[in-house]
Amino acid sequence: MNTGTDISLDMLMNSENPEKALKNVQPFMVLMMYYECAMMEIETKLKILNKEFALKHRRNPFESIKCRLKSPVSISEKMKKKGLELTIENIEDNLTDIAGVRVICSFPEDIYVLSELLSEQDDIDVVCVKDYIRNPKPNGYRSLHLIVEVPIFLSNEKRMMKVEVQFRTIAMDFWASLDHKLKYKKDNLKHPEIIAQELKKCADMSTAMDYKMQEIRNMLE
Ligand code: GTP
Ligand code: MG
Repeated sequence: MNTGTDISLDMLMNSENPEKALKNVQPFMVLMMYYECAMMEIETKLKILNKEFALKHRRNPFESIKCRLKSPVSISEKMKKKGLELTIENIEDNLTDIAGVRVICSFPEDIYVLSELLSEQDDIDVVCVKDYIRNPKPNGYRSLHLIVEVPIFLSNEKRMMKVEVQFRTIAMDFWASLDHKLKYKKDNLKHPEIIAQELKKCADMSTAMDYKMQEIRNMLE
């Protein structure tokens, strides 16, 4: 995770207007701290659900959880792509994936159990759901994406912050990491379309495997 120093240096190095960026560094660091707190809230909520579930049902609905804050460079690039001025207000209003939590489950069913339990909590507002498991992307990408708002309690205010939560099975995550490599290497490949076709086949096989393994798990229970 970035330290405060990294954030300010990145902001300065990547700004077209360093003077203005300098004025924005402190509020930017405060905003990033808010997102970090929101991410911690979501992580704790999910870990609590995992603990309770483990005790009740003798299994963990998720295998691992990863948190990441979007880097200042990525924030600045995304804002540029959207054609927006790099201000604190614009960042908060227009980016929903600054705080990201990725939850890796063994089985597809657990994804829906967990995401429902999280969504139903009375301090959580679900802003948006993208179900790429029921509706995979044409390349084969599968995951359940939630944008949620969670309150963080500061010394003198309560603030709702957005967090992107991605739920995936181990197989979906394995596939996505290989697909991610393709995205970066595409330009240097002779036939990227052939690799994309092969990846799509892998996506179909991993979907079949996910549901077959779930079927077996359910038979064992
Ligand atoms: P971004 O601008 O990339 O954040 O996409 P978006 O705002 O259209 O949202 P979407 O929910 O489609 O994707 C958000 C995130 O999901 C991405 O940043 C990736 O982490 C992941 N993702 C989405 N599509 C793909 C894909 O085709 N392959 C891989 N590997 N990851 C993907
Ligand atoms: Mg994103």
